[in-house]
Amino acid sequence: MLGGRAVRRLAVIGARPAGHSMTPVMWNSLFAKLGMNARFEAWQAITEDNLHFMLKQIREDSDFVGCNITIPWKEEVARAVDEIHGTAAAVESVNTVKRLPGGKLAGFNTDGWGAVKALENSGVELSGVRVVVGGAGGASRSIVYELARTGAKVSVFNRTVERAKELAAVVNKALGKKVVAAGGLDKINFALKKAGVFINTTSLGSPGDLQNQAILSDAQVKLTPKTCAFMDVVYNPRETTLLKTAHTSGRRAVHGVEMLVMQAAKGFEHFFGKKLSQESISVMHDAVVKALAERQAR
Ligand code: ATR
Repeated sequence: MLGGRAVRRLAVIGARPAGHSMTPVMWNSLFAKLGMNARFEAWQAITEDNLHFMLKQIREDSDFVGCNITIPWKEEVARAVDEIHGTAAAVESVNTVKRLPGGKLAGFNTDGWGAVKALENSGVELSGVRVVVGGAGGASRSIVYELARTGAKVSVFNRTVERAKELAAVVNKALGKKVVAAGGLDKINFALKKAGVFINTTSLGSPGDLQNQAILSDAQVKLTPKTCAFMDVVYNPRETTLLKTAHTSGRRAVHGVEMLVMQAAKGFEHFFGKKLSQESISVMHDAVVKALAERQAR
């Protein structure tokens, strides 16, 4: 640093190799556009010890603004922060950590907000609409909570039915009414026939062994009404196996990139206390789409 303030630092922490994440590309293109002296890095935490060491580094260095948390550490970080707010507190899952003066950490969760905004921005109606969610892991929690808050009629289906039931119970308790139903993945067909929206919250469809997999078979996608909109939390590849099937069978597909960008837009508000303009959000979006296309071309 020469004169002025040191570069403001942020990081995304997850167990996958750092190079897999689009988060640094997305944020660094935003910082460049806004002329901000800030840098977003990707850190790989394979063990709990790695994770806690990284959180300690953030606590001890006032150059840090905070961090994002991704698979599989969202629940562990909900226990590690000093303060927990809003959705993160309700579902005990944190994707955004803001470093407070003195080194305390505050936890938030912007995933669900991002999912709701991504759907709304794509013209998908949610209030009173039946939303079927596949998967009840970490990514599902804040999405189910925010959807239910928006007035959607949510049913969660999971391979391990107990996990879906536990999630529904947590959200129903937090909202003080029974708005979320739960079931085993083997019982999903009946719900699909009435679905207005289907969301995959599992990592099926991600690069590697899971890339050619989808939580629903082609036949199951076709059980949904033609008007059903599909969204995938997996954003790499941009068009997952599930979204490809939805698309080719005439259903609307909302890419995971839309949610990634919107959860980051809300994250910016927590980190920097300001709202992003639509133009800035587009810069982030275009940077991710470009980087994904380049990766696929390789
Ligand atoms: P995270 O919490 O980080 O999202 P996770 O806890 O492993 O990761 O959750 C992943 C989700 O994907 C779970 O809903 C998981 O179902 P189970 O709870 O039954 O494990 C789901 N999942 C993973 N592989 C799956 C598969 N092959 N078929 C169906 N669901 C799968």
